[in-house]
Order: sequence, then C-alpha cells, then structure tokens
Amino acid sequence: MKPVKVGILGLGTVGGGTVHVLQKNAEEIARRAGRGIVITHACAKTVNKTHPYSTDDIVLTEELSEVVNTPEVEIIVELLGGTTIAREMTLQAIANGKHVVTANKALIATHGNEIFAAAQEKGVIVAFEAAVAGGIPIIKAIREGLAANKIKWIAGIINGTSNFILTEMRDKGSLFADVLAEAQNLGYAERDPTFDIEGVDAGHKLTILASIAFGIPLQLDKVYMEGITKITPEDVQYANELGYRIKHLGITKRTEKGIELRVHPTLIPIQRLLANVEGVMNAVLVDSDALGPSLYYGAGAGALPTGSAIIADLVEVTRSLTTDPSNRVPHLAFQAKALVDLPILPIEEIETAYYLRLSVLDKLGVLAQVTNILSDNAINIEAIIQKEPLAGVDHVSIVMLTHKVQEKQMNQAIDAIEKLDGITGKVARIRVESLDS
Ligand code: HSE
Repeated sequence: MKPVKVGILGLGTVGGGTVHVLQKNAEEIARRAGRGIVITHACAKTVNKTHPYSTDDIVLTEELSEVVNTPEVEIIVELLGGTTIAREMTLQAIANGKHVVTANKALIATHGNEIFAAAQEKGVIVAFEAAVAGGIPIIKAIREGLAANKIKWIAGIINGTSNFILTEMRDKGSLFADVLAEAQNLGYAERDPTFDIEGVDAGHKLTILASIAFGIPLQLDKVYMEGITKITPEDVQYANELGYRIKHLGITKRTEKGIELRVHPTLIPIQRLLANVEGVMNAVLVDSDALGPSLYYGAGAGALPTGSAIIADLVEVTRSLTTDPSNRVPHLAFQAKALVDLPILPIEEIETAYYLRLSVLDKLGVLAQVTNILSDNAINIEAIIQKEPLAGVDHVSIVMLTHKVQEKQMNQAIDAIEKLDGITGKVARIRVESLDS
C-alpha cells in the first residue's frame, strides 16, 4: 500500500521533532499503521533542525494554503499556534476533506465545538492528543481506556513551565525570572509565556480534559484561572513545614451542583505521587468509579515527547482512513448528540480547604480577632504556625490551614481580616486539596 501523505504547518521545535521521529522510526511506525506515513509538504518560514531530519523529499513553501489545498495530502498537521490563522487553516483543511492533527490546545479549547461540528459534517477526524500534557497519551486513556467509568474528578500538573519554575524555586532557591528564561530557552514555555505563568495554558488543557471526562461542550470562558506569579519562597517553605508541596493544578470535579473547572496553585500532601512530579514533567490523576484512582505521568512539553503524541494521532488517523466515520471514537469521547450541558460552578461556589498567610502586628489580641472572624464565617482551623518575629521587625507571619469551606465564605472572612488594624498587607491564600479518592 502506498504511504499516506501528510502536510505539516510549522517546522519549529515541535514540527522539527515530529519529522525527526517520523523519519527515524519510519519502519516501526509503518508496521503499526499498516502503511508508511510521510511528510510530503511543509509550510515553514524557519526550519528547526535541533533534531536532524531530511527535507529532500518535502515540498517546502511559505504559503499555508499551498499545503492545505494540495489534493494528494490526506492529513494536515497544524502546528501554527494561536487561534486565528490556525482556525482558518483547520477549517479549510476540513472543508477540503482532509483529516487534521493538532497540538494546539488554545485552538481546541476556544474553537473546538465549531471545528468538531465541521469535521463531523465532513466525516473527517481532528485529533489532538498532543494538545494536553505533551507526550502523555492522556486523551486516549480517558476517551478509550476509561470508557467504562463515570469519572469523578481529574487533577493534573498540565503546565510543564509552571512545574519547572516551582521545582527550581524550591530546590535551588532560583529566582522566578531566571527560571522562566531557562524554560523559554529549553522550548517548554509558550511564545507568550504569560499563558504559562498566569494559568491560561493549563486552562486550555483543562477545558479539553473536562469535556472528554464528562461529555460536556468545551467551555473555556467558564474556567477559573490563576497562575503561579504570586507564590513566594516563604509559601513554598511554610507549605513544606506543614507537610505539603505547592503544585500548579488543573482540577475538574463532578459535584451534585455542577462541574468545577479551576486552575490554580494548590497545596497537596507531600506523600501523594503528584507532589513528587518535578521539573517539566506532567502528571494527570483521574478518579473514576470502576477503576478508582489512576495516574498518568510523562514529559509534558518538548520536541520529541510532543512529536510522539502527534505521530500516535497520525497512526490512528491512518488506520481509520478506511473506516466508516460513524464507527470512529467521537472527538469528545461521547457521541456528539449525547453531549450534555451540565452547569459549570463559579469559583465562589466551590468548596475546598485553604492555606492562609497573614502578616500580623506583634501585639496582644490580634490573633484572637482573626480566629473570631474565621469562626463567625464557620471556618474551622486545622493547623496554625506563628513565626518568631525577625529582629527589628514589628510584624510576624501567621500561617494557617483550614478545613473545607465554600470559597465565598472564605472571601468574606479574608475581606474582614484585611480590614483589621493589626493586619499588614494582603492575606495570601492558596487552596488545599487532599486528592484522596
Ligand atoms: N508551554 C507548555 C507547558 C507546553 O509548559 O506545558 C506544552 O503544552
């Protein structure tokens, strides 16, 4: 059988890694797919050859539509990033009857509903394994491996850059800005790194995970997103003293009132496997009713791991070229007509435990005022540490862990605490999750 012809849009870090692996493991991949898979056309302004590959048999162009409109190309790999031109090219490829493989989480999270509807109409596949958690086959695991289960919740370290920064800050005491620059040099961070450190990239990925876990439409606008920029070395150290690590998590949970969809720094017990996921590595913990907890771990970014996920999709699409579209795995795991619009809970409605750090004037009665406010708001304290004042400083840090409470009640308590005369500055608040099933 003749090899399937693939056009690739972008030959940067991920594109280069993909072509490298595709050429290096060509024989092994063909044995799996049933025929060869070759890149015949590529659109690229720059060609990244950090990992070596040949472009001798590739028609190179700077015109995206030349690739997307080439009749013999059956699959388009979209690696443009962004949501404007990437959306146009993806829809054009679909309109031309081509299958699409993409690593673009922003595109899927933002325009996935429209793109999947168009793909369904045309009977083509849009595959996006590389969009979430880099090389970890988490889409396949949830969509197919857990198909028997009712999923209860997912908690994932799904932004490698944030995890890399938090790890380096804790282990080496490195400065935030230095580690971020290193992550950019290593090709982990997004072109706009604010997407990494403000939680937007994790928000894109969580949107996708929630849809395939619960069979709901993609709803990026309803995700609560908070990044790691306000985490201080003190918080990292105090969390450690209390037996916790701070991890940037994407969490989605099915509750009786609706679906939680939130991305934020989180204290998790040190003994959890997830707490020990370091550097750029990603991990996704899924709790489901039949299997119970299951954990998926691996490289969340980088040329070869992301290339690995893209090629897995290429193999899957190649095998499906001759299948009836109605017998394929649905894009969002559930049949398109079976998606349900469950309510997404605003962050004020979620219930969780909290870590609080307060800067308090070192004088009689202030702590009593703080604990009174907490008890007035039905907030139960689980642990409390008061740090010795430093010489010549008139305030001390008080660190607390609370039991679970609704976020809106915690907001009220924090507002009241910040108004006390004995409190200096803002109260630092980090949510705490035990992650037991
Ligand atoms: N910037 C992303 C991260 C790349 O750091 O995880 C992979 O999606």
